[in-house]
Amino acid sequence: MTTDYDPIAEQYKRTKQQPWRAHVEAFTLMTLIGDPVGKTVIDIACGEGFYSRLIRRRGAAKVTGVDLSEKMIELARGTEAEERLGIDYIVGDGRNLGLGPEYDLAIAAYFLNYARNRAELDAMCVGVARCLKPGGRFVTVNCNPSCDFPSAPSYRKYGFETSVVGAWREEAPITWTFHLEDGRFDIENYFLSVRTHEQALHAAGFRAVRWHRPLLSPEGGAVYGQGYWSSLMDQPPLILIECLM
Ligand SMILES: C[S@@+](CC[C@H](N)C(=O)[O-])C[C@H]1O[C@@H](n2cnc3c(N)ncnc32)[C@H](O)[C@@H]1O
Repeated sequence: MTTDYDPIAEQYKRTKQQPWRAHVEAFTLMTLIGDPVGKTVIDIACGEGFYSRLIRRRGAAKVTGVDLSEKMIELARGTEAEERLGIDYIVGDGRNLGLGPEYDLAIAAYFLNYARNRAELDAMCVGVARCLKPGGRFVTVNCNPSCDFPSAPSYRKYGFETSVVGAWREEAPITWTFHLEDGRFDIENYFLSVRTHEQALHAAGFRAVRWHRPLLSPEGGAVYGQGYWSSLMDQPPLILIECLM
């Protein structure tokens, strides 16, 4: 893991206000998750708790958020102190959570894309698998391994850009540059192919692996116009995966 979120935690939290987050990312992830009422849910790489809160508000019985970054968890706990939802936030590594198979659903928004190689991806998939009950479901939104990032369009109008330096090959770093009103910052993901992801998920015991392209919310289309979203929807830099234990 090369991107340290401690120094950029507060800035990253503000990127969640960018319209594409609500109208594409969250709309698709929450559509795929479906009805979480009564379910036990773990949000791995929860950051400041954006999805932990959404899923708890939609009726999940228990939500645990885990993140490697102390600062991210501090922000999550701060929000929890202001609006008590009963979410437990833990500083921890998703590759080795030390939790038993106690969850119906594991979610992760941008976790697997921090694997720099197959071994790290294997460790992440095993980490997720270990906390799921038999039949439990894993739903994740991730940097898209089927996007050809070197030829991707500019996503600048949505508030971010992507770039690749050097050869486009397995393990190549992908830089996401986020733009905010008061500045910009970078985070780094890594390219591992669709096939590598499928192998790692199957090796961890997952089955019924399905990939889903992002969707646009009807409200997003109505407010901004369909044309506004074409770069993002035609060559999506994000993708969703769902699979079962
Ligand atoms: C792009 S942020 C996403 C945060 C949150 N899921 C969201 O959508 O707002 C990625 C997060 O992954 C966390 N992370 C990276 N590697 C991790 C690991 N091995 N275990 C737990 N968290 C990890 C980082 O600390 C960071 O908060």
